[in-house]
Amino acid sequence: MNPTAAILAGLVALILLAFVTIYGLVSSSSSRRRQGASLSAIDFARGSFASQLSHGVPMNELLLQLVEALRDTFKLDAAELWLCTDDRLSLEASEPRAERTTIAITPAEQSIAANARVSSEAWAKVWLPELLPGRPNSTLRTAPITHGGQLLGLIVAERARRPGSLASEADVTLEEVAREVGVAVNKARLDAALQQSLDQLRRQATELQASRGRLVAAADEERRRIERNLHDGAQQYLVAMAIKARLIEQLSNRDPERARQLLHQLQLDATAALDELRALAHGIYPPLLSSSGLAEALSAACRRAALPASVDVIGVGRHPAEIESAVYFCCLEALQNAGKYAGAGASAHIRLWEDSRVLRFEVADDGSGFESNGQNAGAGLTNMRDRLGAVGGSITVESAPGRGTKLSGTLPLGA
Ligand SMILES: Nc1ncnc2c1ncn2[C@@H]1O[C@H](COP(=O)(O)OP(=O)(O)OP(=O)(O)O)[C@@H](O)[C@H]1O
Ligand SMILES: [Mg+2]
Repeated sequence: MNPTAAILAGLVALILLAFVTIYGLVSSSSSRRRQGASLSAIDFARGSFASQLSHGVPMNELLLQLVEALRDTFKLDAAELWLCTDDRLSLEASEPRAERTTIAITPAEQSIAANARVSSEAWAKVWLPELLPGRPNSTLRTAPITHGGQLLGLIVAERARRPGSLASEADVTLEEVAREVGVAVNKARLDAALQQSLDQLRRQATELQASRGRLVAAADEERRRIERNLHDGAQQYLVAMAIKARLIEQLSNRDPERARQLLHQLQLDATAALDELRALAHGIYPPLLSSSGLAEALSAACRRAALPASVDVIGVGRHPAEIESAVYFCCLEALQNAGKYAGAGASAHIRLWEDSRVLRFEVADDGSGFESNGQNAGAGLTNMRDRLGAVGGSITVESAPGRGTKLSGTLPLGA
């Protein structure tokens, strides 16, 4: 070999060596990049996806990030993620963005798709032809998203240009990403179902609490009603009887005839008290009040009062039971108070009348009176206020020491 040929051969060898080295460097760096890129899609699905989901990032936002990562990783023309609910697949995320659309999928097709591996457009043509319109010459890879053998969705990778190599590049990654997404979607669905059950339980607990509150309130109200009726109704007989018994004791030597009359009244009062108690125990209003109305019932109450008492009822007709009983029991309690506190020689008078759709009453006595400062209300005055308040009425008490007592009540009669 002459020297020139030797130099030329050396140069060619050097160029070849450089070419092989450069090619080697380039191809290993592109395969590393590809490997790195596909790792990043898997890493996203394995790491960020689950952790961001658990930190409350919305599922649709994460699915968008996932299809972006897939598209970038494999230089796709489109990456899509479909989710399956009942009998439909819905396009949840796509890159590039596309209109949200759904396609029908039967349970049989779901089962076939769930058991398929990552497949091509040929598979889609047979089993999910509705996926194909709009992608005439594309290479497709479809990876089913499953959990426990159930189809949860589908990842679709589409490449219109450079077809052919997609399967070898993407299938392993798509399979792994679909597996990770399957776990996450299943967890998200379980969480949503759990949350729904919790919300329902919370709603039921609130309703239960409210209904228990209503029951307690109703029981309280019923107890108060019985208490009031015993206090204002039956107790007045006993008070009158106690006062009459004291009188009988005082009169037994001085005026035996009067004492005998009072004893007779005492017997009648005891019988009436028994009847009243029986009626109250059965939740029935005083029989005379329900049969004959306020005028008759109040006249009877005056007759058995512990002090001389009279009643004037002017132009008052019949009214609903709750109105008549409110007025009746208020007058009874006022009469009872007069009997207890007005003192010897006092008498009481009841007036009842109607005035432009308002029922009014007064119970006045000319007894000792009291310092009416609003502080001295016992159960009697409180019951009166409650009774009238419950039917939209009110009472006022006017009294002063030595100047008697007047209780006035008003009750609107409605339309
Ligand atoms: N007609 C009246 N004459 C004098 N004092 C009265 C009269 N009515 C009420 N009072 C005074 O007002 C107070 C409150 O009356 P209220 O009916 O509320 O309670 P009470 O009669 O003492 O007890 P209870 O009614 O619970 O048996 C009485 O204790 C009494 O001092
Ligand atoms: Mg009283």
